[in-house]
Formats: sequence, structure tokens, C-alpha cells
Amino acid sequence: MIKKQSIHKAVIPAAGLGTRFLPVTKSMPKEMLPIIDKPVIHYVVEEAVASGIDDIIIITGRGKRAIEDYFDAAPELEMWLKDQHKDATLKRLREISNFPTIHYVRQKEPNGLGDALLRAENHIGNEPFAVLLGDDIISNAKPCTAQLMAVYSRFTSSVISIEHVPREKVCNYGIIKGNAIEPDLFRIEDIVEKPTPETAPSDMGAVGRYIFVPEIFDCLKSTDPGVGNEIQLTDAIHHLLKDHPVYAYKFEGKRYDTGDKLGYIETIIDFALRDENLKQELMAFLRKKVHI
Ligand code: G1P
Repeated sequence: MIKKQSIHKAVIPAAGLGTRFLPVTKSMPKEMLPIIDKPVIHYVVEEAVASGIDDIIIITGRGKRAIEDYFDAAPELEMWLKDQHKDATLKRLREISNFPTIHYVRQKEPNGLGDALLRAENHIGNEPFAVLLGDDIISNAKPCTAQLMAVYSRFTSSVISIEHVPREKVCNYGIIKGNAIEPDLFRIEDIVEKPTPETAPSDMGAVGRYIFVPEIFDCLKSTDPGVGNEIQLTDAIHHLLKDHPVYAYKFEGKRYDTGDKLGYIETIIDFALRDENLKQELMAFLRKKVHI
């Protein structure tokens, strides 16, 4: 009988090289690309915290120090803002240093998402945990991670978030083959990393939120390099399926893929349109551009 444990730890893999955004990612992490005035990874940490996570480990690598600096306290800057009576800005800065303590571990070589996740094994230990990819923002009143936690607490099993993706884009995702047990919930039969449109078992792609039982670490250890000669998390999930059920949940909310150039631009526009100080002028600008 598997013991049910609540989930309070999360891993945020942020070690990827960000090649799609070169040259800017030559000297800055892709997770630090700004969505107006907050970096992408801020929203990811915010989602984890809003879901009840109180212990976060970020997997970093070379050139990712800016992430650590961002989540650190900045006493001199805070003091200066206080002296200048810039209270609103100070409040926003303090929100960052009030996040729970974040731990960091480095992936020494870019061996893929699966290998990055394995770096968190010692910190996670023998308990279920959440994974939030550092370049996917998912916006919803009930955070996506909290939605997955609700599924976990029903089945005490791993669960991943999925959404329909256009057929021509299945080659960018882990694609599931699943049995619907409820309109938005599937039991996964298989999962394939980045298949071609012809070989894809469906059009339901894994997006950047997962809950795993700790057995995923053993599966990662026995996973050989796959697509791109990297250790793929998807391949480890394929192994996990042999002995453990894994569910897929069509989450509620809007996912922004900031790791893709167009996705990044759309994210900025959408977030700016939600900002009362920017909305009117941005709308006027956009109308002028598209002549409507
Ligand atoms: C990774 C995973 C893939 C998943 C995707 C979601 O791919 O390997 O299974 O569908 O994230 O964003 P990447 O985007 O790192 O190539």
C-alpha cells in the first residue's frame, strides 16, 4: 500500500542552454527574459508558492547566476528605495525576498531535462514532488500545479499536465497515448518524446508541469540518452509506466511558451494588456499597426 504524502517540494529545471534565443542567452539565462518587469521564472516560482510549495530547488548550470541573484535579498537597493520613499517598488522587491528559501544545484553538463531532474534526487528524497519547467508560464485562478496536486491526492499517482497541440507541432513535445477516464483526465498508456506528426500517438502534448512519485529517479537512472542524445524525462516516464500508473490532466488555464520566440512575444502582449497602466496605449498602438 503506497503511503499518501502531501506535496510540498518542487523542482524547477532551469539549466537549458536557451539556444532558440541566442545570442541574448549567451550572457543571460532564458528563464530571466523579462515579461515587462518580472522575469519568466518569477511567475513559475509564484505558481509553486501559490500551490502550497514551501521548498523549491532550482537546477541551474553555467551562466545561470542571475537567477540566484534575482531571488536573493538586496539590502542596499532596499535601503536606497526606502530613503527615496519609493514604497510601491520596495514592496514589490520585498515580495521576492519573502519567497520560501530556494535551493540551487548545478547540472554540470547539458545532458537533458531528465538528467537535470536527477540532480534534485538528494534534496527530494523519498517523497512525491512537483516539477515546473522554468520557461512555461501557466495562468489561471487555480494554479496548474495545485490542479495536478488535486489529481495526485485522488490517485496517489504521478500526473502530468497536457494540452492539445497543433499536429505540425507534436515534434516539440512529449506526446501521450491515453485512456480517457473522465473528460479531462487520462490514464497514460505510453508517452513518446518529440514524435513526427505521422508517428505521434495523439495530439496531446505534455506541458511544463508534473507531479512525480520518487520512483521516477530510479527510472531516470536507467534511461539511456534519447532524442538529441539527451536523457529525456519522457523516456523515464515511459519506464515508470511499467510499474506505476501515470495520469495526464488537461489543466484549466492558459499556457505561455516563453521558450519560443512567438510564444514569448504573445506573453508580453497578453500581460501588458492586463496591466491597467499599459493597456489603453498599447491597444491604440496595436490598432494603428493592424489598421483596425
Ligand atoms: C520539454 C520536454 C517535453 C515537453 C516540453 C513542454 O521539451 O522534453 O516532453 O513536452 O518540455 O514544454 P523542450 O521544450 O525542453 O524541448
